[in-house]
Amino acid sequence: MTLPDRPENRRRSTRRAVLAGGTAVVVAAAAALWLRPQLGWAQQPARFARALAVPPLDQGQVVEGVRVFALNVADGETEFFEGIKTATRGINAPYLGPTLQMRKGETVRIEVRNSLAEPTTLHWHGLNVPAVADGGPHQVIAPGAVWAPSFTVHEVASTMWYHSHLMHSTARQVWQGMAGVLRIADDAADALGLPDRYGIDDFPIVLQDRRFTRSGTMPYAPTMHDAMAGMIGDVALVNGTIQPHLALDVARVRLRLLNGSNASIYDLGFADGRGFHQIASDGGLLARPVALNALRLAPGERAEIVVDISDGRPAVLRSVSGGARGMGMRMMAGAQNPAFEFLELRPKGAAAAPAPLPEVLAEMPRADAASATRTRRFVLEMGMMGGGFAINGASMDMERVDQVVTMGETEIWEIANAGPMMHPFHVHNTQFRVLDRDGLPPASAEAGRKDTVLVEAGETVRILVRFDHYTDRAHPYMYHCHILEHEDAGMMGQFIVV
Ligand code: C2O
Ligand code: CU
Ligand code: CU
Repeated sequence: MTLPDRPENRRRSTRRAVLAGGTAVVVAAAAALWLRPQLGWAQQPARFARALAVPPLDQGQVVEGVRVFALNVADGETEFFEGIKTATRGINAPYLGPTLQMRKGETVRIEVRNSLAEPTTLHWHGLNVPAVADGGPHQVIAPGAVWAPSFTVHEVASTMWYHSHLMHSTARQVWQGMAGVLRIADDAADALGLPDRYGIDDFPIVLQDRRFTRSGTMPYAPTMHDAMAGMIGDVALVNGTIQPHLALDVARVRLRLLNGSNASIYDLGFADGRGFHQIASDGGLLARPVALNALRLAPGERAEIVVDISDGRPAVLRSVSGGARGMGMRMMAGAQNPAFEFLELRPKGAAAAPAPLPEVLAEMPRADAASATRTRRFVLEMGMMGGGFAINGASMDMERVDQVVTMGETEIWEIANAGPMMHPFHVHNTQFRVLDRDGLPPASAEAGRKDTVLVEAGETVRILVRFDHYTDRAHPYMYHCHILEHEDAGMMGQFIVV
């Protein structure tokens, strides 16, 4: 792989860009980096040379019927490149965090210690939890403090995730490494016989991209352009490993794909064109396995896929660029879905073909628009020239509640994208269903449980949403674009459930 010698890295200087919305984006003093003696790059890993890092599976400790996890958010150093230590942040690890294993129906408590020298938060993305346990911008954990939310796991078997959600700083903290996977199990899914041996035939696959300087640092230093388009890197990371391989001794493998990038939309597939089955979307199993050759994953989204590797041949998971709709949109969108070679699956040898997947995975009642009691409309806007990120004309304000929703009522949320970029719209505290895109029903892979939905430029997507279990007049939840630079710049709003 080649190391980024980016012209904007060299050009970058200390300056402060003020967004039209009044949000200041600090462009870091990257210039100073270039004054340091530069390291040689003999250490750079060859393509697929490194073994994939698999985050440890953390089952917590059951104490008086409660599953208790102990997390420590701290600074660390990661050797992305041989012999070079890069300053990063992580949770019980120098970069990223453990995979937290939970089961539907149980009560968990997560003790989060903030060992950073600055505030942070940890949000449980995809989970229906009390507002005070959500870990959004209002649940700030001061340096040295411990925050210990507790909740019941209402979710079905699924791949969720957790990440920093600090107001105006989510993008930077996630970039530095503050994210991890939640792996939720339930009895119904256990009975299906899907690959579920962690680290053997079932892997979390956190897809990200990062930029490194030639001295091996990974500064979060968005330019004016990055503030608009989002921070898109040029080095592919999987679970924090640069372009790794995964040695496998099985005939098929389940990959729990998470787009954990700040801003990149990945159009994924295998380089040899081989097909695979998608078995789950954001919030759990699909009704049936869906046969695909390609799959689009926006920031925040998850897709579980099962790949047949019984032919014994290596298979490269990659993303390709282009493919956005609309003439004028293509230039912007081309920048939004970069091409990367992420991971090489390396089977030990040919094996007998695996038994077919079950025909039915989960019960998935039809999403019925007639069950909704009201419709709310959300217009996603971005001012040109790097400013004015807003929803319905308003930039995020922590003191303002934008929507008041009644618990247990089904609603239609209509999300209209008025700008030139694609935006992944995420709603906290729920799994929703996609009703339609510009009036057309969703593809099968998008017809299951979702918490994040990509809205293309000029498109209107309708979702069917409901918030169960918890009311709280004092503490809001968030909805926002999951391009973290857009979220931090104000494309976010707040709702309370009453
Ligand atoms: Cu993945 Cu509001 O977050
Ligand atoms: Cu969330
Ligand atoms: Cu956006």
